[in-house]
Amino acid sequence: MNRPFGMLAELTYKCPLHCPYCSNPLNLSDYHEELTTAEWQRVLIEARELGVLQLHLSGGEPLQRRDLVELVGDARDLGLYTNLITSAIGLSPRLAQELKDAGLDHVQISIQADEPALSDRIAGTRSYERKIAAYRLVKELGWPLTMNVVLHRHNLDRIGRILDLAEELEADRIELANTQYYGWAWRNRAALLPSRAQLDRAEEIVRAARRRLEGKMEIIYVIPDYYSKYPKPCMGGWGRQQLTVTPNGDVLPCPAAHTLNLPRATVREHSLAWIWEESPLFRRFRGTEWMPEPCRSCNRREVDFGGCRCQAFQLTGDAARTDPVCYLSPDHGIVEEAVQAANEGAESGEEDLVPRTYTARQT
Ligand SMILES: C[S@@+](CC[C@H](N)C(=O)[O-])C[C@H]1O[C@@H](n2cnc3c(N)ncnc32)[C@H](O)[C@@H]1O
Ligand code: SF4
Ligand code: SF4
Repeated sequence: MNRPFGMLAELTYKCPLHCPYCSNPLNLSDYHEELTTAEWQRVLIEARELGVLQLHLSGGEPLQRRDLVELVGDARDLGLYTNLITSAIGLSPRLAQELKDAGLDHVQISIQADEPALSDRIAGTRSYERKIAAYRLVKELGWPLTMNVVLHRHNLDRIGRILDLAEELEADRIELANTQYYGWAWRNRAALLPSRAQLDRAEEIVRAARRRLEGKMEIIYVIPDYYSKYPKPCMGGWGRQQLTVTPNGDVLPCPAAHTLNLPRATVREHSLAWIWEESPLFRRFRGTEWMPEPCRSCNRREVDFGGCRCQAFQLTGDAARTDPVCYLSPDHGIVEEAVQAANEGAESGEEDLVPRTYTARQT
């Protein structure tokens, strides 16, 4: 059996920002009972024993956890490579130095746009200036810097200026991630989905920037799912390379898998090894046996694993169907309809975006 290589530790869903594209669950209030420091420490030890080498510390906003420095130190002592995924709100010079001293290896800071007013509007909080200060701080402390920008119809046309900002801040890497439609992004899909024309223009700019910045800044462009011919190889296959631990200790094959009607698996009841190897949740879509046609007889079944189970469930109500993003899926029309609406301008605008709120009730 494959061993997990990376673990996403969602330390808390608390967050001072309100991004309408946030992939976190809608029912955030169900996650108040966060794991304690001692519970996370046990999870880290078990993760290392299971083979995990890379630890991604995220959330919510991981800087909201008071024990972050301690957990980074524990992870370093276990030999884990640590990556902090953050909005940077709360990253004071003192905390940054403490994280550096504790052995944090890498920092990825997200920003909503290159332009202060738009960035603050999307984030739902004045945050742009603090993010810029945090980028500078990360460089001063000698960390490699990754800038992350989630792309959608309200910032995609600014991609050239976003790249300029990354260059000006001397980012080593920029991750331009087209929105994945989970959680709040799913709820706001109609107002976020870009048009084909916007994407074509953006891709041209990315191509030119790659040529210009080769050897200077790495540009990752995460292709937009809905406009692709084939689906993404979600998490490199179900229960194959990655696992996620949510703030309350649920363990998931992918961060969106809480949406599926599958039995829960939690570190409060079982070891990580049992969950990975034995739990019905992790076994359900592992390998290729579960696949329906057209995946079952497709030569890409070990390439994209039939796409994303959560997306299949979201769009068809059945997690065991081929991801409708695939042009071979019998349900592909569902994706085509959403794309057509985006191209005809039928979708709503920025003012219709529902901000992510921690205490939100599910509707
Ligand atoms: C959920 S956030 C948590 C960390 C931190 N609060 C932040 O936003 O940087 C984790 C990462 O996913 C990105 N992200 C959030 N929602 C996304 C979505 N719907 N599609 C793609 N990336 C998303 C964020 O920009 C961030 O880099
Ligand atoms: S609201 Fe924004 S900053 Fe907060 S967790 Fe979601 S993506 Fe990150
Ligand atoms: S049919 Fe299934 S395996 Fe083949 S490309 Fe589509 S999603 Fe991938």
